[in-house]
Amino acid sequence: MEKIIEEDKQGESLVLEQNPTNTKKLFIESYGCQMNFSDSEVVASILAGQGYNTTNLLEEADLVLVNTCSIRDKAEQTVRKRLEKYNAVKKINPGMKVGVLGCMAERLKSKFLEEEKIVDLVVGPDAYKDLPNLLAEVEEGRDAINVILSKEETYGDISPVRLNSNGVTAFVSITRGCDNMCTFCVVPFTRGRERSREPQSILEEITDLYDRGFKEITLLGQNVDSYLWYGGGLKKDYDKASDMQKATAVDFAQLLDMCARMFPKMRFRFSTSNPQDMHEEVLHVIAKHHNVCNYIHLPVQSGSTRILKEMNRQHTREEYMSLIDKIRAIIPDCAISQDMITGFPTETEEDHQDTLSLMKYVNYDYGFMFAYSERPGTLAARKLEDDVPEQVKKRRLQEVVDLQRDLSHNCTNKFIGQVVEVLIEKESHRSDAHWSGRNSQNTVAVFPKENYKPGDFVLVRINSCTSATLIGEAIGYSEKMQ
Ligand code: SAH
Ligand code: F3S
Repeated sequence: MEKIIEEDKQGESLVLEQNPTNTKKLFIESYGCQMNFSDSEVVASILAGQGYNTTNLLEEADLVLVNTCSIRDKAEQTVRKRLEKYNAVKKINPGMKVGVLGCMAERLKSKFLEEEKIVDLVVGPDAYKDLPNLLAEVEEGRDAINVILSKEETYGDISPVRLNSNGVTAFVSITRGCDNMCTFCVVPFTRGRERSREPQSILEEITDLYDRGFKEITLLGQNVDSYLWYGGGLKKDYDKASDMQKATAVDFAQLLDMCARMFPKMRFRFSTSNPQDMHEEVLHVIAKHHNVCNYIHLPVQSGSTRILKEMNRQHTREEYMSLIDKIRAIIPDCAISQDMITGFPTETEEDHQDTLSLMKYVNYDYGFMFAYSERPGTLAARKLEDDVPEQVKKRRLQEVVDLQRDLSHNCTNKFIGQVVEVLIEKESHRSDAHWSGRNSQNTVAVFPKENYKPGDFVLVRINSCTSATLIGEAIGYSEKMQ
């Protein structure tokens, strides 16, 4: 699997078990971040209660929903193209209704209904519980819209159906929204203020997954290290909480520790960490528990302190480097990955060199790298001219991607000769005689199947590798995870 990506994932349509009493057909596809894929599972669950079974045949759908991403212009263009496709299908199936969910719905609001005649329904990320009412309006022939952002909604009371699942790994959302206001980012506008989900409902969802045989959970949030439950409400209102609420508050380190202790035979990951909010306690929790993976996705965006300041990232290059030193000291074999933006307004060649040198310093295992895309309404769009020419952004991106490929190869190489613990997820897409899974550091490993099966934790001796995949042979079950 190639971890180095330059643009957004393709949409994926999702199908779940069919309920025989449901007669209507829902085609739902998702673009963008993991949170969108996870939200689509919440939406499918809500609509399963409204008589909808999912289908992966667009042509037979009564209702088509597209869960959209606004993070870069290209992501929005991809969705516009999909709407053209739906339009063509609607000519054959005129009864079909079309709804737009997610960040583009929130960003464009009723403009969507004006600009795209095909769209009947526009629903923002906090309004999915209103879908039954909105659909009733659509059925009566009216367009329907709800893009109200919430201070409370975490969908903690909805048990998401698992769409297109491998039955082994699952995502569980723990926070929604983001308060960081990075100047380039549209997320705080489309997903609202940050709020945390009640620990009890998180643990219940994991219990349910455990009972159904799942083995690995990724705790999801825009900024997981900022998780704070004090009885509900916005993170920014914590100061107003009572002494009692503060005394019983649960932070991310505590939540992760609780998960690891309650489910010792399940493995835990989390995403995404923000450098300024990552505290040392979390590192100790990772180091303490075998079942918390040694992998941190720690986006930095730029290696230049001046650019970081323009981006309103709340740390300098040096502070980020000392956080890396701390991670290396507390968790010696921790994998670290990055998100990087090239060509942010005012970025000079020297700033770009700072990015390359920081990458070498950290020796990142993986990376997700993007050319800057101005997003309407963000502070950067309002205050800074998008002044780095497109070909310069692209050239710098290529340099960053090329360097990351070399770093990744070195990181993968160092596993040769080692024995690593791999959770088997599925058949290797290159060979039906091999299993594919990931080690603690999130590196994909493939090995001959023998008598093992998906969901097994297996010790694998690594014999060779490509730049992103380890190749080896199983030497037995991992006793620690049996
Ligand atoms: N904290 C979030 C970040 C979401 S956006 C998380 O959970 O991952 C994911 C990445 O997209 C960011 O880290 C950033 O590298 C990139 N990105 C965001 N806005 C962008 C923009 N305007 N142009 C280019 N890349 C952007
Ligand atoms: Fe976006 Fe920064 Fe939050 S990248 S999601 S505003 S941490």
